Amino acid sequence: MMMNDLVARLTHRKKGYTLEAPFYTDKDIFDVDMEVIFGRHWLFVGVEPDVPEPGDVMVVDIGKTSVAILRDDDGEVRAFHNVCRHRGARLVHEEKSTVGNLVCRYHSWVYDTAGQLIHAEHMGETFDKSCHGLKPVHIRSLEGLLFVCLAENPPKDFDEARAGDGALSRAPQSARDQGRLQP
Ligand code: FES
Repeated sequence: MMMNDLVARLTHRKKGYTLEAPFYTDKDIFDVDMEVIFGRHWLFVGVEPDVPEPGDVMVVDIGKTSVAILRDDDGEVRAFHNVCRHRGARLVHEEKSTVGNLVCRYHSWVYDTAGQLIHAEHMGETFDKSCHGLKPVHIRSLEGLLFVCLAENPPKDFDEARAGDGALSRAPQSARDQGRLQP
């Protein structure tokens, strides 16, 4: 289905009624949805207590994209494409785990919790490990609620809303407060 067809279907949808069947069954519409909505906007994926301690990792799959969210050794929550930079193998397989470093099970490349490649066997002396760290994914924590954006340049609405009147940051009891990060 071409984009024009999709826009026409949306424009002429019958208000107050469910969308036409293809919106629930058509693979092309699904692909557009994944690209235009899930691939470009901020998505809620979890809470900071999902990764409470340094080395804790959780994996979130967004369509065909797997994202590893982990707390690094300095306590910062980071997100990376869950793909080894050697030959593209999936790096973390478990939904939740705790690691010292991230070790690929195929040829044992090792990444630290900040995503830097720290060990790669048989790559020769000229190989530059600093150019082969994990690919980062944009992540924000809003009072402990974790949002990621797969786009290279994420929309500014999230930061703008947060910077606005502060309403987004005035939750009575934040997810962070409910976790183990604060007494
Ligand atoms: S694919 Fe990960 S080390 Fe080779």
